Amino acid sequence: MEELRVGDHTKVLIQAGLPEELVPPRMDRSRVAILTQPAVTERAMTLARLLDEQGLLVEVVGLPDREEAKTLDVAVSVYEALASFGLSRHDTIVGVGGGAATDLAGYVAGTWLRGVEVVHYPTTLLASVDASLGGKTGVNLAGKNLVGVFWHPTLVVVDTDLLANLPGSLIAEGMAEAYKAGLVGDPDLCDLLGSQGLSAPMAEVVRHAAGVKARIVEVDERESDVRAYLNFGHTVGHAVEFASSLSHGESVAVGMVAASAVSERVMGFDVVSSVVATLQKLGLPTRADGIDPARVADLLRLDKKRDREGLRMVLLRGVADPVLMHVGREDIAAGLEAVGL
Ligand SMILES: NC(=O)c1ccc[n+]([C@@H]2O[C@H](COP(=O)([O-])OP(=O)(O)OC[C@H]3O[C@@H](n4cnc5c(N)ncnc54)[C@H](O)[C@@H]3O)[C@@H](O)[C@H]2O)c1
Ligand SMILES: [Zn+2]
Repeated sequence: MEELRVGDHTKVLIQAGLPEELVPPRMDRSRVAILTQPAVTERAMTLARLLDEQGLLVEVVGLPDREEAKTLDVAVSVYEALASFGLSRHDTIVGVGGGAATDLAGYVAGTWLRGVEVVHYPTTLLASVDASLGGKTGVNLAGKNLVGVFWHPTLVVVDTDLLANLPGSLIAEGMAEAYKAGLVGDPDLCDLLGSQGLSAPMAEVVRHAAGVKARIVEVDERESDVRAYLNFGHTVGHAVEFASSLSHGESVAVGMVAASAVSERVMGFDVVSSVVATLQKLGLPTRADGIDPARVADLLRLDKKRDREGLRMVLLRGVADPVLMHVGREDIAAGLEAVGL
């Protein structure tokens, strides 16, 4: 078992199976509401049974799948369920599922009675290394994550057995973000993924990637330069995601190749070939074949990180040495060309 801390708020347990202490010990808690996704109802039910055996009153609230869970309507229906269950400010909300479920659970916990304890049981690799850590919560409105609060979980439990058995698409999705964490903050993680690819031990990957997120969040709780390092690959990545049918992780993989090419050009850091080789080992795409370059260029023009001086992007001066800076039009063009756009 590995234990990690994110700031003063959060204990992260990384282990095979469930811990004995399912929620942090507290005398005044009597109720636990578990919010869960369809794919992991069984896991939520197991947790419910174990918590019930510990003498707690437990309610399981099912959420719709994926982004459908991240709406104000769903939040309202959960508030109503909490009201009839009688969840008080001494009680606890537990989020079980991928990042969509933990984002919604965190949002509801941060707003119900002006904030009650939240504990996360992330069930995807992405949620384990990224979404469940750092306290960002939210629901979508016209845009993604437009409404939210910062609300830290007291405990995050990552079950590496569960992660090792995820469908390949969900592993690739999380590996893209894990590798990103390595590139901006952990050379050992880059070596691990570069040498072992998808056979890298899940516990090691999670420990390193979650560690990067923990360190960055500690330095900078609010969105500013340091936290923005976690957006490496996401400028071009988001444009590719909107312009294609690629998943978020696949799009970020392509975006990381583009950002590496810009880094090579602007910083003189020779990184593209190792990024491409590692992404290939992780089963992730490295080119944007079949995607309309004009559409990607349009989307980049609308990027919210653009200001009067142009587009700001996270670049690498070296492994684990990121910098957020303005990039020129030709530099971006070179990055896009490196992925076939
Ligand atoms: N708060 C943050 O800091 C932060 C950071 C990154 C991403 N996010 C958010 O996370 C979300 C994406 O997270 P995600 O990729 O985990 O997506 P998700 O929660 O939408 O889950 C993806 C799919 O996997 C299924 N699933 C979950 N666990 C499973 C399991 N063990 N086995 C099989 N299927 C399973 C889900 O039901 C869903 O269909 C987005 O909403 C994104 O905005 C938040
Ligand atoms: Zn991402």
